[in-house]
Amino acid sequence: MTSPIPPSGFASVAQIRKTFLDFFAERGHTVVESSPLVPGNDPTLMFTNSGMVQFKDVFLGTDRRGYVRAASVQACLRAGGKHNDLENVGYTARHHTFFEMLGNWSFGDYFKREALQWAWELLTKVYGLPADRLWATVYIDDDDAYDIWTTTIGLPANRVVRIGDNKGAKYASDNFWMMADTGPCGPCSEIFYDHGPGIPGGPPGSAEQDGDRFIEIWNNVFMQFDMQPDGSLLPLPAPCVDTGMGLERLAAILQQVHSNYEIDLFRTLIDAAQRVTQCPDAHNDSLKVIADHIRAAVFLVKDGVLPGNEGRGYVQRRIIRRAIRHGYKLGCREPFFHRLVADVAALMGDAYPPLSSQVDSITDVLRSEEERFLETLEVGLRILDEALVENDAGSEVIDKDKGKGSDKVNKDGTNTDSTDKVLRGEVAFRLHDTFGFPLDLTADVCRERGWRVDEAGFAVAMDKQKSQARAAGKFRMDKGLDYDGAPNAFVGYERLTTDTTILALYADDAPVDVLEAGVQGAVILAQTPFYGESGGQVGDAGTILGATGAMFDVADTQKLRAEVWVHRGKLAVGTLRVGDAVTAHVDALRRAATERNHSATHLLHKALREVLGVHVQQKGSLVDAQRTRFDFAHHAPVSEDEVREIEARVNADILANTSTSIRMMDLASARQTGAMMLFGEKYGDTVRVLDIGASCELCGGTHVRRTGDIGLCKVVAQSSVASGVRRIEAVTGTNALEHVQQQEDTLHAAAAVLKVPVSGLEERVTTLLDRIKSLDKEISALQGRLQASAAQGLLAQARDVAPGVRLLAVQVHEADAKALRDTARQLAEQLRTGVVVLATVLQNKVQLAACVTPDLLPKVHAGQLVAFLAAQLGGKGGGKPDLAMAGGTDITRIDPALHSAAQWVAQRVG
Ligand code: SER
Repeated sequence: MTSPIPPSGFASVAQIRKTFLDFFAERGHTVVESSPLVPGNDPTLMFTNSGMVQFKDVFLGTDRRGYVRAASVQACLRAGGKHNDLENVGYTARHHTFFEMLGNWSFGDYFKREALQWAWELLTKVYGLPADRLWATVYIDDDDAYDIWTTTIGLPANRVVRIGDNKGAKYASDNFWMMADTGPCGPCSEIFYDHGPGIPGGPPGSAEQDGDRFIEIWNNVFMQFDMQPDGSLLPLPAPCVDTGMGLERLAAILQQVHSNYEIDLFRTLIDAAQRVTQCPDAHNDSLKVIADHIRAAVFLVKDGVLPGNEGRGYVQRRIIRRAIRHGYKLGCREPFFHRLVADVAALMGDAYPPLSSQVDSITDVLRSEEERFLETLEVGLRILDEALVENDAGSEVIDKDKGKGSDKVNKDGTNTDSTDKVLRGEVAFRLHDTFGFPLDLTADVCRERGWRVDEAGFAVAMDKQKSQARAAGKFRMDKGLDYDGAPNAFVGYERLTTDTTILALYADDAPVDVLEAGVQGAVILAQTPFYGESGGQVGDAGTILGATGAMFDVADTQKLRAEVWVHRGKLAVGTLRVGDAVTAHVDALRRAATERNHSATHLLHKALREVLGVHVQQKGSLVDAQRTRFDFAHHAPVSEDEVREIEARVNADILANTSTSIRMMDLASARQTGAMMLFGEKYGDTVRVLDIGASCELCGGTHVRRTGDIGLCKVVAQSSVASGVRRIEAVTGTNALEHVQQQEDTLHAAAAVLKVPVSGLEERVTTLLDRIKSLDKEISALQGRLQASAAQGLLAQARDVAPGVRLLAVQVHEADAKALRDTARQLAEQLRTGVVVLATVLQNKVQLAACVTPDLLPKVHAGQLVAFLAAQLGGKGGGKPDLAMAGGTDITRIDPALHSAAQWVAQRVG
């Protein structure tokens, strides 16, 4: 018998978060803030999937912080890359795409004993979980952890389970945690909570472990290794601890519910989802999917990930579209998902402050994606329905063993892949390619009906298609250079030239001891004045000179990882060797131009917020020596007046010529100064606060010393990047001068052509336009007169075909169909009683028009007349009784055909 679930003293997730952080702060841990969902400067990882991501370099020993113990509540996403729970959301009580992770860390300080004891103390003494409902697992050969659990803590041995290498794949199995395919990793010990026998599922390590009864709540990783791309394990500089506890899972226990989706935060979100979908059943699984996905979608946009067709943007699209499909299932035919953004902000804005100010821009992004997908969703679903019925008739039987090893689980813990009904891969691909159905959306529909998608067939169809869709979903991993040497020192804030030595050389990315002239390569220096691309500022260019005349042209500088900069370029002259003494020179003009643009970006950001509103949030920026390109949340074009006002404010700051100040401080103090913090930046514990003009922002970039150094800042372009995101481009310094000069050149050239001074240009152009207008009028009046006099000439050729009935049937000069018809009508008016037939040759074909005066209408039908004539000319035609057109191809028979009109009309009016 297990004890009853604990009485809830922790009413809300907010209290649970605070209790966790307080507990570890009391034990000497520094509380750090959640980092963005997009890991800063880490191309090996798609999303922040755990609290340890922001400390990756600290584990590796390449980054140092001012503390050795830390704790945080981290926003995480497991929807792409190594850890992916997207397809389980809606099927289990405990899986999420977005979730919050409570974590504590030791960087070479305490190890297994303290970590496990504190975990036990917090769970049982502070949160009050009954000890007899807790289980633990340890890595199969981790006797230390086993002893700590059984002897020090006193957990009965039958509730400590050894799990690990039992399939020959040592590091792929449970209880060995890896952040990604490479990087810090180690054996772990997981703590499970038993929700009681009323819930299906078995203890860890049993065949029924995937059920919802025994839930892993806290993982304690003993970080000891750095996994290499070849699978080998290098020891970390010091053993570390990395723990992570799912906030939602813990809340479920403390709030005495079995499903994460029943905790306070989710109950409120599910109510909101019910409100916007008008779904009467609060327990409908689609509401859970929507409630889960809205958090992921909102936090992704907040951290700069917009829906797109590649990489992170495609994961975002998959999440949003999966939610929209579930809304559709509940009967939503209009956009609904974006209406939940404000609910997420209301629930989570306190814990993640930037959220509340971004509600409008995030709403815009989601609404526009919804509108776009709703255009194709209905047809796509119909096609899918039909395919499932069609396939049903002759569904393939597949090898049931194929499903083994899948972690797709149903509520009762059964494995879903055992179905033998398979949707053809080409159908899934067509839905993907034509109707924008991500594969997992199609799989989700199939799964609801007991089907699965032939994913291999989908991949084959995808390969066949050379289209943009082919690249969708792929994440390009730039693994960078293989460097495990010493960190370098960046001295480029203070100087642009330095004497130093070469630590490593690369020829075409392969490490070499010697680099020869003419080879493209890379250089790592012990000290560098070159700024490595980051925070939107491009990397520096310049030269590295060897003592014996070697010259390496640096085209770009990149940050390989924390405190390692790599200079890429070409060895123009001589030979360089590892260990050589060299002098590194940054291209000073290029750096100065870049700095002017970077400093102006800060002033621009500030002015944009003042003029347009504080909803303006940076969504991306690129600063190079030519211009600054700044993307920001705003839903309308910036008007000319607003641009002027923004320019005025920026240039007023420049004219004030105040000096730039840089202050180093901890993140919390920086927040107190009100400094703006930008998306995508990975902030360490000490941050750089830049005060320039009226702006105060966190920034690691390089800047002008005084605002006046910027010269002039001129906005040169603006455009839309995505729904709700505008782009503004500006130039500064000599570029601004050039821009102004180019505009002036254009004005001078126009003035010279028009033979007026520039000041008289506007008047001259206005006069010319007026003159053109009046000439146009004159021309059309003259054309009318010409037509009238030509018509008079033609009228003379009319003859009587019956008493009082005249026929004019003539060939006229080349005319288009409209002119021919208008002329026929005018001539008929002048005939009073009669018929006009005009023929013309246009591009070697005959065109006919016939017009009959109203009084003859009962007798003569213009459509029949042209049909009669066109038949003689190898063509066809017809039309209304009073006016008709026809065409023919035989131009040699025009005369006889026109001639035949007389008898045809005479017969009808006689
Ligand atoms: N990194 C480990 C995990 O995510 C512990 O936080 O499970």
